Amino acid sequence: MTDNKNNADIAVVLAAGLGTRMKSEIPKAMHQILGEPMVDYVVRALELSGVGHIIAVLGYGADRVEAALGGRIKAVYQKEQLGTGHALLMALPALKELARERGNSGDCLVVYGDTPLLTEETLSALRRARQDAGAAVAILTVELDNPRGYGRIIRDGDHNISIVEDKDATDSQKLIKEINVGAYSFDIGWLSRSLDVLKPVNVQGEYYLTDAIGWLSGQGQKVIAFRIPDSNEGLGINDRAQLAQAQDILRHRVLLRHMLGGVTIEEPSATLIGPYVKIGMDTTIGTGTQLFGSTVIGKGCEIGPRSRIIDSEIGDGSLVDQSTLNGVKMGKNCIIGPYTYLRPDNVFADNVKAGAFVEMKNAKVAEGSKIPHLSYMGDCEIGKNVNIGAGSITCNYDGVNKYKTIIGDDAFTGSNSNFVAPVTIGSGAYTAAGSTITMDVPPDSLGIARGRQSNIIGWKNRKKQTEAKKAH
Ligand code: UD1
Ligand code: MG
Repeated sequence: MTDNKNNADIAVVLAAGLGTRMKSEIPKAMHQILGEPMVDYVVRALELSGVGHIIAVLGYGADRVEAALGGRIKAVYQKEQLGTGHALLMALPALKELARERGNSGDCLVVYGDTPLLTEETLSALRRARQDAGAAVAILTVELDNPRGYGRIIRDGDHNISIVEDKDATDSQKLIKEINVGAYSFDIGWLSRSLDVLKPVNVQGEYYLTDAIGWLSGQGQKVIAFRIPDSNEGLGINDRAQLAQAQDILRHRVLLRHMLGGVTIEEPSATLIGPYVKIGMDTTIGTGTQLFGSTVIGKGCEIGPRSRIIDSEIGDGSLVDQSTLNGVKMGKNCIIGPYTYLRPDNVFADNVKAGAFVEMKNAKVAEGSKIPHLSYMGDCEIGKNVNIGAGSITCNYDGVNKYKTIIGDDAFTGSNSNFVAPVTIGSGAYTAAGSTITMDVPPDSLGIARGRQSNIIGWKNRKKQTEAKKAH
């Protein structure tokens, strides 16, 4: 990455489209691949290739897309989706300002928001190819066995290049296998000039950005088509089948990186790991596991089978078996599951055990404590070396407000204890099994809160006699 933002490159991402072919109410840019929105991959590739200013053209569902990309982009808006050329025109005022700061020279990368497989290496190479050739524009191309739906590259000599859209192509043009990926490196001066001339004269009645390429060639400007061998990178996502295809390719890329980094993936075809997830050496990821978001897993862990972990941190040597974790932070050598559900804001120290069949939320648990069976622990602080009995429940919610349960170090709570919050169990205290604890239990004391048992001796025989009398 370049340190000085003023000298860094500029890029525009076109992501205003609804994506009609997705058949969805979700904006196309927000459809997920390995737990991240599609457009995130494009923005990430631009960032990694050293681009310092990214303008995103947003339209349908702009709020959602902008929220997902946060401060990483400058948003401009295209109210009506009149085509890719029109979308780029919307970015022109912002672009011109940035260009002015650079003496109206330099590059601008233009990338479509629906090409998530593009890599930073390819974007950098595209830019270099334009600069080396001194061209007005370099367009990225790949060859596809089935080029249907893509713009075809018409080469008439080395630099006389134009693009014809699938819907406008003649039968012979449709046989061309070299396609437009939708990534361009423009000389910034020529970019604005070529946009001025676009007209919506085509089958779709849209302003095609691709027409700018033919126009530049027609002006005698140098246009180069930069073809890369990996045709996967050119995949444009227009429907759900292509979305699944993209996820499959990205999944392989991510898994390969982890496997080469010393992580065992038991069944790669049944494992989904997001692009930002980090995993330490000698960790094993069991079948059917999904790791998403900002999740960081330490060394020597066993995760899975069938676990789903989102935005969580898991310390070295921990085990997570068949469980769902979201927004959880835990230390080393913790044991989670089977069948444990850890909701946001749980913070566990080292050697904590939660599960089987345990649900927890906003619980701070100190070292060595165990919640081993069938419990709900919410809005609580649990001290060191505490043992929570099977089936214990924090009654943290009265229908309006949430209250806290505090359980001190070395406490031992009996099975089926209910803690009606707010309540504090002192350190070293006990609660008797089956107690509904509504008052604080002082340290080293026993809290019992249950009906006293009485036995009715010979009750069964007396019952039988009464029934026999009734029958006569
Ligand atoms: C486009 C290209 C085609 C190329 C293909 C690669 C044009 C005219 N065609 O076709 O040559 O082979 O991508 O995948 O450029 N967008 C807007 N505003 C609009 C229209 C589109 O922001 O008014 C955005 C979309 O959100 C999308 C991108 O531009 O991210 C491409 O649009 P899309 O409709 O997918 O174009 P394709 O038909 O795939
Ligand atoms: Mg597309």
